[in-house]
Amino acid sequence: MCLGILVTTSAHTQDMTDDEIKSRIQPVGQVHVAGAVEETASSGPRSGADIYNKSCVACHSVGVLGAPKLQNAGDWSPRLEKGFDQVWKNAINGIGGMPPKGTCGDCSDDELKAAIEHMIEGI
Ligand code: HEC
Repeated sequence: MCLGILVTTSAHTQDMTDDEIKSRIQPVGQVHVAGAVEETASSGPRSGADIYNKSCVACHSVGVLGAPKLQNAGDWSPRLEKGFDQVWKNAINGIGGMPPKGTCGDCSDDELKAAIEHMIEGI
C-alpha cells in the first residue's frame, strides 16, 4: 500500500520541493503512529482509580454489606493488621460479602492491588 502511493506520486516529483514531498507522505506516517499509540493505551494496565470507579465503588463508597469504605481509616486499619498481602488475597478470592475479584472478572491481580491501594491511600 505504501509502495503504491510512492509509485503514483513519483511521476510528479520533478516539480516538487523536498518539503512538498515530505508533507505529502507525512499523513501516512502519522496514521501508523496514531494506531500504535492507541494499541498501547488499551492493552496497558488500568489505574487503581479506574478499577475502583468501575467495579468497586458500588459497595465500597457507602459500605454495602459492611464493605470497608473508600479511604476510611477506621474501616481499613483493622483489616490491614493481617498484612496487605492477605487483604489482597482476600480481594482476589472473595471473603464474606465480598465477591471474588470484586466482580471485576477481567482484572489482573496487579490491577486489583492498585484498586486496593487507591482505597487505602492517605489513611
Ligand atoms: C458486591 C459488593 C462489593 C463489591 C462490588 C466489591 N467489594 Fe470489596 N468488599 C465487600 C464486602 C462486603 C467486604 C467485607 C467482607 C468481609 O470482611 O466480610 C469487602 C472487603 C474488601 C476488602 C478487604 C478484604 C479483607 O481481607 O478484609 C478488599 C481489599 C476489597 N473488598 C477490595 C475490593 C476491590 C478491589 C473491589 C473492586 C475490584 C471490590 N472490593 C468490590 C463488598 C464488595
